[in-house]
Amino acid sequence: MAIERTFSIIKPDAVRRNLIGKILTKFEDAGLRPIALKKIHMTRAQAEGFYAVHKERPFFGELVEQMIASPVVVQVLEGEGAILKNRDVMGATNPANAAEGTIRKDFALSIGENSVHGSDAPETAAEEIKFFFNDDELVG
Ligand code: TYD
Repeated sequence: MAIERTFSIIKPDAVRRNLIGKILTKFEDAGLRPIALKKIHMTRAQAEGFYAVHKERPFFGELVEQMIASPVVVQVLEGEGAILKNRDVMGATNPANAAEGTIRKDFALSIGENSVHGSDAPETAAEEIKFFFNDDELVG
């Protein structure tokens, strides 16, 4: 399988509960390697732009508020089949439906405060990486 890069966010609910290390361990144990990683406090404009695809959805306002409430970790993960692998390690959007051992099963609080974001396809991965990182920040 091809080596891919995907974009990941450790969301405010998880950073607040000091879960950065435990979540990174799940990614690393699955063979995903962080090649760029930074802690930021997202602005409202960044959160609204990042989630623009959801702006007509009823949960949009609350999603933006949750994403800007406190800092996040944004990162680029690299590995074989990284896009799908990341989604597998994350688990289902709603933690009630997430498989055993996934990040969302172990750590998520609710469908909104679900601890991680991960790109869902190659095109979105490329766009999302560019949204937060310059090429010279990716150290593969
Ligand atoms: P989505 O892209 O559907 O899920 P995923 O993060 O698994 O790719 O939704 C983006 C985020 O929006 C999701 O992580 C949490 C929030 N959300 C809600 O708060 N309520 C909902 O009903 C849905 C579908 C998503």
